[in-house]
Amino acid sequence: MQAFAKKDILDMASLTAGEIELILDTAGHMKEIGTRPVKKVPTLRGKTVVLFFHEPSTRTRTSFDIAAKRLSADCHAISAGTSSMVKGETLIDTARNLEAMNPDILVIRHASSGAPHLLASLCRFSVINAGDGTHAHPTQALLDLMTIRERKGKIAGLKLAIIGDIAHSRVARSNIEGFTKLGASVVIAGPPTMIPKGIESLGAAVTFRVEEAIGDADVIMMLRIQKERQQGFLFSTEREYAQAYGLTLEKLKHARPGVLIMHPGPINRGVEIAPEVADGPYSLILDQVENGVAIRMALLYLVAGGARHAASD
Ligand code: CP
Repeated sequence: MQAFAKKDILDMASLTAGEIELILDTAGHMKEIGTRPVKKVPTLRGKTVVLFFHEPSTRTRTSFDIAAKRLSADCHAISAGTSSMVKGETLIDTARNLEAMNPDILVIRHASSGAPHLLASLCRFSVINAGDGTHAHPTQALLDLMTIRERKGKIAGLKLAIIGDIAHSRVARSNIEGFTKLGASVVIAGPPTMIPKGIESLGAAVTFRVEEAIGDADVIMMLRIQKERQQGFLFSTEREYAQAYGLTLEKLKHARPGVLIMHPGPINRGVEIAPEVADGPYSLILDQVENGVAIRMALLYLVAGGARHAASD
């Protein structure tokens, strides 16, 4: 097996195309473990994983927990609200104290962009970014790439349209970086107030019209309006947003037959995506969630040194 030399998984920008392919290939093997009657292998026995989530999560946190346990790691979850950070302890002091307990891997989600990078530079343990502010959500992009590669057999040459609140979306940034790195083209669309200036520098084309973005897309990725991160009004009403930018069966008439539909979740039904589209035959939303466990198993295995050991055997 090809070696994997990264201590941390912080963003898609710092992964090479070869490293991304290795992660996707490894996740393909890991996925099979989840189909067995006994969904557990001893691969990470004796390793300790800490899940440290400062923001709410259903999919990412649960899938990391399941992934660690399927690999027989000891997994401990703490959240900001139940940690001593509520008593005023800083993030760095918290990380130093966790480090003193000798974990092998810390999985962190934090509202501040750059928090995982800071801990990775200070601490011995591996850090996996489970989403930092508006910056990056690399494990989401990797599971999205896996889901599309499974369906299409490739990423190179595909056209991806990402639609919605791009300005506040770490998922959009990580997917633009990941899909373009593997040879796809990406177009983003949304209200002008939700398209950040300079986003083209990541390699995406920009339009403000959904119909134009989806016209020749192979894959449409809808994004949630992140009200919790917005300051001020970026659109008039949810109803008007849904009419202009929500993906409905009517808008899908502008897309190619069989176009694949993605959403990282959680979804606002009837706002950015109509229920009949979210639950329709071309929706991959639950496939994305299923692949999240496999991708996170692969990342825990790889940063714990699995591929380094396999390569030297
Ligand atoms: N897609 C995603 O990150 O979902 P959660 O916020 O539920 O983890």
